[in-house]
Amino acid sequence: MARPKIALIGAGQIGGTLAHLAAIKELGDVVLFDIAEGTPQGKALDIAESGPAEGFDGSFKGTNDYADIAGADVCIVTAGVPRKPGMSRDDLLGINLKVMKSVGEGIATHAPDAFVICITNPLDAMVWALREFSGLPHEKVVGMAGVLDSARFRHFLSLEFGVSMRDVNAFVLGGHGDTMVPLARYSTVGGIPLPDLVEMGWSTQEKLDAIIQRTRDGGAEIVGLLKTGSAFYAPATSAIEMAEAYLKDQKRVLPCAAYVKGALGLDGLYVGVPTVIGARGIEKVIDIKLNKDEQAMFDKSVDAVKGLVEACKGIDSSLA
Ligand code: LMR
Repeated sequence: MARPKIALIGAGQIGGTLAHLAAIKELGDVVLFDIAEGTPQGKALDIAESGPAEGFDGSFKGTNDYADIAGADVCIVTAGVPRKPGMSRDDLLGINLKVMKSVGEGIATHAPDAFVICITNPLDAMVWALREFSGLPHEKVVGMAGVLDSARFRHFLSLEFGVSMRDVNAFVLGGHGDTMVPLARYSTVGGIPLPDLVEMGWSTQEKLDAIIQRTRDGGAEIVGLLKTGSAFYAPATSAIEMAEAYLKDQKRVLPCAAYVKGALGLDGLYVGVPTVIGARGIEKVIDIKLNKDEQAMFDKSVDAVKGLVEACKGIDSSLA
């Protein structure tokens, strides 16, 4: 049986990390695309040369030609510009929207059957634009956000409780921005919801509130430390988890920026929600029930995403 083909659009820090993870996990043959000449070729060769020591096989191609992504099963899009200290993700909207246009057209022409995972910021608006520019089915185009935000939440909770990250589950909903909604009620340590853990005296509401805020600021915390760009290990790992769920039909329940029409009272918007990912792409959006406070936070986040989508339409008239 032919190995799956994984096209990585953008060969920067995240693209290179994605390629290396896909190689180590032997998810398939990797094509690393970038407009910068030499970068994808150099990274692809470097990764191939790490194969003998790590013990993986596969084909690794670096390219500047969209034709080389032909027939890809999965495309992961990181093309565009990351933010620097002092910037918000939304500041990248104008510049990255132009990039999404050429990427969307490239995917539509050469890999129209792919499952497309977008990582470029501002995430929810960029995945919407990428879907519009590519014309692919909504269930095959998704944004990587909730998996990353939830992973950060899980990490901080594991530090607070002094337990393995494997025993911490957490959900972050809403847009991948300052208004994201870490859901304490649906997050658990060893299956016990966070509010119950507070009641049991294992932590305090103040400590959990600080963790929730740190989760919201998680991307900015890394940007502030790196100074020259944004996070890449955790974003790449999160996207690979989604790609693997699709390629192996794992039916994973993962929070992603998915197209929501009907669930959570939404009428057609890309925003972070719990989904089921399997061989058909986004196979289900879970219509999670929110209490009054959670709903108010989610509504605020939805409004922020809607504002960014409108801004995209204002910049590119073909989207209006
Ligand atoms: C992240 O959350 O790490 C990414 O969205 C990058 C960023 O700019 O924060």
